[in-house]
Amino acid sequence: MTALTLSTAAAPGLRADAIVIGVAKGAKGPVVAPGAEAVDKAYDGRLAGVLETLGASGAEGEVTKLPAPSGFKAPLVVAVGLGAEPENDARFDGEALRKGAGTAARALAGAKKAAFALPLTDAADAGAVAEGALLGAYSFDAYKENGKDGRNGKNGKAPLAEVALLGGKPRDKAYKAAVERATAVSEELNRARDLVNTPPNDLNPESFAAVAQTAAKEHGIKAQVLDVKALEKGGYGGILGVGVGSAAGPRLVKLSYTHSKAKKHLAFVGKGITYDSGGISLKPAGHNETMKCDMSGAAAVFGAVVAAARLGLEVNVTGWLALAENMPSGSATRPGDVLRMYSGKTVEVLNTDAEGRLVLADALWAASQEKPDAIVDVATLTGAMVLALGNRTFGVMANDEAFRSAVCEASEEVGEAAWPMPLPEHLRKGMDSPTADIANMGERMGGGLVAGLFLREFVGEGITWAHLDIAGPAFNEQGPFGYTPKGGTGSAVRTLVRLAELTAAGDLG
Ligand code: BES
Ligand code: MN
Ligand code: ZN
Repeated sequence: MTALTLSTAAAPGLRADAIVIGVAKGAKGPVVAPGAEAVDKAYDGRLAGVLETLGASGAEGEVTKLPAPSGFKAPLVVAVGLGAEPENDARFDGEALRKGAGTAARALAGAKKAAFALPLTDAADAGAVAEGALLGAYSFDAYKENGKDGRNGKNGKAPLAEVALLGGKPRDKAYKAAVERATAVSEELNRARDLVNTPPNDLNPESFAAVAQTAAKEHGIKAQVLDVKALEKGGYGGILGVGVGSAAGPRLVKLSYTHSKAKKHLAFVGKGITYDSGGISLKPAGHNETMKCDMSGAAAVFGAVVAAARLGLEVNVTGWLALAENMPSGSATRPGDVLRMYSGKTVEVLNTDAEGRLVLADALWAASQEKPDAIVDVATLTGAMVLALGNRTFGVMANDEAFRSAVCEASEEVGEAAWPMPLPEHLRKGMDSPTADIANMGERMGGGLVAGLFLREFVGEGITWAHLDIAGPAFNEQGPFGYTPKGGTGSAVRTLVRLAELTAAGDLG
C-alpha cells in the first residue's frame, strides 16, 4: 500500500512528482486553503487568481493541475477542491480534508511521490488527510495481467506510491498516533475492499475463513472456524440451510480480540454471503452481477477486529463471520422448507433470496451466548434499504434508541453517512407462519425494517443490539468520488472501529 510520512520539509525544496494544495469556494471566487502559503508566495500571492483563470472554483471533487513555480523541485502543483470555505475562519472539517486528499491521491495515480500541503490545524486533521490519501490511492488490480510489473490500475497506472504530509509534526506524539491510527484503519479497510472485489470463484466460505485465520494469527487474535461438520453438530440450521445448495460449504468464523485491561465486550456480526444467486428463488439477470459484494458485512467485521487489535484498544471485541454461498441446486433449500435455527426457533423459508437474515440469525444467537455488552451486525441485507436511502447511506436499526443514536453519531464522526430507521411492531405479524415460529419474509413495504424485525428475534434477552443495513453503500457501481473507489468500499469498517474506541474509552454504554 501507499507509504505515508509526516514531513517538516518546505514545499519548494521537496523532491516529489507533485505538491497537493487545497482550494476552497469563497464568496468571491476560489481561495487558497492554509498550508499552501509557500506555493502562493512563489506565485507572488496571485495563486487564487491563477486558479480562477484556469477555471477552478474550489468545488468538492475538482482537480486543477498547474506547473509548479520556478525554484520548486517538484514539477507540478495539484489544487484540489475542498468545497465551501468555512465561515468565520473556522477550520475545514475532517470529511472535507479526507475527500480532498482522496481526490488528489486518485488524480496522482501513476506518480511515485506527492507532498500534501493541505490545511492541518491539529493531529486530527493530519489523521484525516492521511486516511483520505491512503483510501483514495486504493486500486484493485490483482486480476489485471497486462501491467508492466503485474499491476495495471486505473488507466494502467499503479497507485500513488508515497505521500509526505507537509506541516505534520513528526516528533509530536499526537500527530504520530493519528497517522498510525489512520494507517492501521486504512490498511484494514482496503483489505476489506480487496475481499469484496475478489471474484466469487476465488473467494468462497472456506477461502475467506482461511484468510481470516491467517490474519488473526498475525495479529494475536484467536480464531475458531466451524466447518460443516461442526455446524451440523452445533445445530446451526440457518447457516447450513443457506449453504447446503453450494459445492462450497458454509463456515462460521469467530475472531476474539481480547485486552487484559478491557472492561467491556463488543460483538460484531457480519453477513458473509460470498455469492448471492438468490438460491431456488433465483435472482434475474441484472440483479446478480454484483452479488459477490454480499459478504461486505463480514469483510467489514473482519477489518474492524484486526484494526482494533493493531490499535491495541482496551476492549474485548469478538467478530462473527457468517459465511455461506447461496446457490440453487438439487441439494438447495426450497421455498417451503422449515429450518431449525441455532436458537431453537423454526423458520419457514418462503424466499431463499432472503438468506442473509438466516445466516445472521444463527450468528447473532451464537454471539448472544457470551453476553456481550452490545452486538452490532453489518449486512448487505435488503434492496428496500437501497430504495429508501440511496447508495451512499446505510440504515441503522436497534433495540435501544440511545444506542442507535450513538451508532449514528459515531458514523458521522468518521465520515460514514448513516440514518436511523425504525422497527415498527405492526410489521412483525407479516412474518407469522402457519407452519413454523416465523417466516423469513413479511410485507414487501418496509422490507428493510421487516428484515430488522426478523433479526431482533435472534438477539439474546436484554442485550443491546444495532443492525447496519449497508446494501446501498457497500459497493460503488458508479464512478469513484472523494476517497471512495469503484467496487467494494469498505463501508462500516470505520464506524465499527470508532464504536470499539468509544467503548474502550468508556464513552459508550
Ligand atoms: N443480498 C440481497 C440484498 C441486496 C440487494 C444487497 C441489492 C445489495 C444490493 C439480499 O439477500 C436479498 O436478496 N434481499 C431480498 C429480500 C427479499 C427476498 C425479502 C431483497 O431485498 O429483495
Ligand atoms: Mn438474497
Ligand atoms: Zn443476500
